[in-house]
Amino acid sequence: MSGRNDREPLRVSPVYTPRVIEEIQDKAQLGRYRIRGFGTLRERPLPSLDDLTFLPASLTRIPLEGYRERCETRTVLGTRYAERPIELDIPIMITGMSFGALSWNAKVALAKGAATVGTSTTSGDGGMLPAEREHSRTMVVEVLPSRYGANVHHLRQADGLELTIGQGAKPGTGGLLLGSKVSGEIAAIRDLPAGVDQRSPARHPDFLGPDDMVIKIEELREATDWQVPIFVKIGATRVFDDVKLAAKCGADVVVVDGMEGGTAASPEILQDHTGIPTLAAIVEARRALEDAGMFGKVQLIAAGGIRSGVDVAKALALGADACYIGTAALIALNCNRPIYLEDYAALGTEPGACHHCHTGRCPVGVTTQDPALMARLPVDEAAGRIANFLTAMTLEVQMIARACGKANIHDLDPEDMRALTLEASLITGIPLVGMHGSSHQAHVTVPHA
Ligand SMILES: Cc1cc2nc3c(=O)[nH]c(=O)nc-3n(C[C@H](O)[C@H](O)[C@H](O)COP(=O)(O)O)c2cc1C
Ligand code: SF4
Repeated sequence: MSGRNDREPLRVSPVYTPRVIEEIQDKAQLGRYRIRGFGTLRERPLPSLDDLTFLPASLTRIPLEGYRERCETRTVLGTRYAERPIELDIPIMITGMSFGALSWNAKVALAKGAATVGTSTTSGDGGMLPAEREHSRTMVVEVLPSRYGANVHHLRQADGLELTIGQGAKPGTGGLLLGSKVSGEIAAIRDLPAGVDQRSPARHPDFLGPDDMVIKIEELREATDWQVPIFVKIGATRVFDDVKLAAKCGADVVVVDGMEGGTAASPEILQDHTGIPTLAAIVEARRALEDAGMFGKVQLIAAGGIRSGVDVAKALALGADACYIGTAALIALNCNRPIYLEDYAALGTEPGACHHCHTGRCPVGVTTQDPALMARLPVDEAAGRIANFLTAMTLEVQMIARACGKANIHDLDPEDMRALTLEASLITGIPLVGMHGSSHQAHVTVPHA
């Protein structure tokens, strides 16, 4: 006898949920922690840009006409020290993703698509591909703890250098490329044996803290004749202090990558339980720059979970100068598209739920080194989708700015928004909806410190 009344619903433990049970049994089998791609799959929602809403013009403000009145999107980065600041037509840039994590076709398609709409692409752990330089208009080259590709010839071909301290999807740890993706070509570039897991160092071999980071930044400036801006990219953790330090160490541009940030491979617990959300990271970064008297002098790029023009508009309104996109660009390339269904099934997943970039068996040719899979991503067609997606995002940012009465997207500011949740209101200092004019307002708004 089961002892269970047939009419009694099945009861699931809120502590040992089916997912927790699966995780424990997986670890018991593997003898190590779980690794996967894509980004956080946390079930509990994070405070996010979705918790803000814009207040377009009505009677107290005048909106701009969509077709007849210009709305400027030009974006300039690196005005502090560089002789040649980066000038972009739009504020949305392709983030650093390694050749190795991504296929050759994906890297080149991103470069071409970005160039078509006047924006930049970025190298990644693994160094710069000559073909991506050739096809890009503006190329940011990462300088990473792994030192892959950090040769002076590549640095001198860059329009900007990015000293990568960390990433939102795995702050405090190094890059990770599983052996299944270390093909002969990737192994040759990285000077590694093919087929063996590759773990990049967690910290730069040339400096430990801010004192010697100043020297590193100066070294990069000298290597590039003070021509190009130096970015410092951090995974969003102690953002207020880190951004202040980066600015004081001489960064021209600071990148904050929130915990929603994407990855090709990272331990699951780092994706779900480390760092702070992008919303909070932008707010702390702005406050840090204001505190250091550098807001507007050192530019801020926001990254991590930026999916649409509305996300970009909110990030700009909070104080960012530009946004990086990674995962959204891969989705535009075809990631998670419902094609080649049998290959998703072979990975034990389906379109819409795939996070299997770490396996090297990407069904749509984006995160693989397998020539047959890669051939599923024809470069020109894929570049066209990237250009279209970036154009659509930019039109969305302009639509929001015009509706808020702004002729320049960079004039969006916190006053153009309201918070939809108390949490978001506390984090951002933006008033909660429904409180304007209320005598309780003082209790729910926190001014920028
Ligand atoms: C496939 C993939 C590979 C990545 N490789 C790198 C890398 O080599 N170096 C790096 O700094 N960040 C890397 N990242 C992190 C991104 O630069 C960026 O911080 C993050 O993707 C932003 O979040 P989003 O994907 O939600 O836009 C990678 C991300 C993805 C999705
Ligand atoms: S479709 Fe490819 S790029 Fe997208 S999550 Fe799956 S393996 Fe990664």
